[in-house]
Amino acid sequence: MCGIVGVVSSNNVNEKLFNGLANLEYRGYDSVGMCFIKNKRFYIKKGVGKLEEVHKKVNFLKLNGNIGLGHCRWSTHGGVTEKNAHPHVDCKNRISVVHNGIIENYSELKEGLIKNGHKFYSQTDTEVIAHLIEDSLKDSRIEDAVRNALKRVEGSYALGILFAGQPDKLIAARNESPLVIGIGNNENFIASDVPSILSYTKKVIYLDDKEIAVLTKEHVGIFGLDGNKKNKKTQTISWSAEAAQKSGYRHFMLKEIYEQPRAIADTLDERLLNGNVVFEKEFSLADDYLTKINRIVIVACGTSWHAGLIGKFMLEELAKIPTDVEYGSEFRYRHPLLDKNTLVIAISQSGETADTIAALKEAKKHGVKTLSICNAMGSSITRMSEGVIYTRAGPEIGVASTKAFTTQLAVLYLFTILLSKIRKTLNEKQIKDMIEGIRRIPLQLQSVLDEDDEILKCAELYHHKLNSIYLGRGVNFPIALEGALKLKEVSYIHAEGYPAAEMKHGPIALIDKSMPVVFIAPHDVYTYKKVLGNIEEVKARGGIIIAVATENDKEIPKKAKHTIFIPKTLYTLSSILSVVPLQLLAYHIADKLGRDIDKPRSLAKTVTVE
Ligand code: G6P
Repeated sequence: MCGIVGVVSSNNVNEKLFNGLANLEYRGYDSVGMCFIKNKRFYIKKGVGKLEEVHKKVNFLKLNGNIGLGHCRWSTHGGVTEKNAHPHVDCKNRISVVHNGIIENYSELKEGLIKNGHKFYSQTDTEVIAHLIEDSLKDSRIEDAVRNALKRVEGSYALGILFAGQPDKLIAARNESPLVIGIGNNENFIASDVPSILSYTKKVIYLDDKEIAVLTKEHVGIFGLDGNKKNKKTQTISWSAEAAQKSGYRHFMLKEIYEQPRAIADTLDERLLNGNVVFEKEFSLADDYLTKINRIVIVACGTSWHAGLIGKFMLEELAKIPTDVEYGSEFRYRHPLLDKNTLVIAISQSGETADTIAALKEAKKHGVKTLSICNAMGSSITRMSEGVIYTRAGPEIGVASTKAFTTQLAVLYLFTILLSKIRKTLNEKQIKDMIEGIRRIPLQLQSVLDEDDEILKCAELYHHKLNSIYLGRGVNFPIALEGALKLKEVSYIHAEGYPAAEMKHGPIALIDKSMPVVFIAPHDVYTYKKVLGNIEEVKARGGIIIAVATENDKEIPKKAKHTIFIPKTLYTLSSILSVVPLQLLAYHIADKLGRDIDKPRSLAKTVTVE
């Protein structure tokens, strides 16, 4: 995945690059590197490990210059070595490149370049770009050399490029990997995401595929690969710089869990007016069209896919629209059957997940309308879809998604209300109850957070366990999946999410007195009683039962070893509350085990490779 940042300024840029990299580290932390130009020469420092570790060895802040690039790596081609750390340079050390993405035809390009006398230093795909530009440079301007080089490249890239001989110019390019240009005051930036430069500017331009940007400290020019100039809109970001800080919390994940009441309140703000749901202008799907759709297909990955599974419950039960939920990575290779009355919804925190983007592209090939539910303003997915509803979680930095998930659920719920009203599948009283239900959620979330001591106790008792099972039925089954995913991601403990009744077809064999079993069992009219039976089955086999139950439940505490209570709410809303204890449980267990919670091994926040 990798993170890239670059600055050209009238001042020394080393702190800005360093801070930018610190904010981008969630994208990759195998190795890290920086490059500056001084007196028309490159000064490069890099090493294996996380930013702080490498910084201790090489002292990045000792480097200085008014133009520079930084990179944190999540390795794809070539092992985790100092040689493979970015930036990479050409034979004569005149061109320096940082890259996020995968150059798919790099082997054949490399072979050709070697035949032409180029010497390679690393095993990365990235290095071919430096040599290709060198090859094209001969008599042309550097911008043209970059364009010509990129015409030979197949694959994805977000690139930052420096030329030692032109210390006032930073070049960037993008194809299928995220890249944003930041417009500062007598300085300009490139970065893989907005939060990494948010302390310096809120004005951004999003590069589109196959665009090149030429930045000096005063000016930004954007061109197509054909060399034609493009007029691009500058957008102002509404996130505050503080929102991307830890604000006294030990980890971003904990801060983001605790931010959920605020995040949901923001997501509802000005969207519930006079008994109606009102989305902003970028929603753009007309009532007439929404009345006609007869099927919804949700595409997403990871935690966002779990949100989609809960969305299916909402859309089918309340808006009465048949809904399928697909992994982005599976959808495009399945020859999906879509017609003009199918709405495809992409759910993504980052808006840059390669598999979700690919699924959206596949959907568009079928000529269907698309809607994205997304947290990152202006991201690729939002630009590809006809309609957009933003979650307003604010920047999510912890790799394990928390507040993005609950705000996605809130948006799906609002969208369901809107559809139910337009399609008249619910009456006024039912709509009113739904609206009142979600209005109460921010306060109710606060009371779930107050259960943290009990959850901490569970973490203290069970953090040394090697396995665990999460069980739920109906709308609680996706929450079981999400709870298990959270635990795996941050603690590295094996966890399985299962429909509680399916347990008897396999997982029940795993249950003995050493197995923690987490039941998500809020009171509902559908499955509650059956779940009590499933709890008994686990108890009979000695499993350690931790249950999430509705306040005042008298039955579950008699059966479970630990009960965490959530307030009473509507069936489809309970998931927003019941996931929070599971997020906290995963967090505390990982903390007890001393894991790197915000940057778990091998994971990246935004997965921009397929
Ligand atoms: C990665 C992240 C997950 C996230 C998933 C989908 O795997 O680690 O937290 O749920 O990508 O990301 P998206 O940005 O599309 O929601």
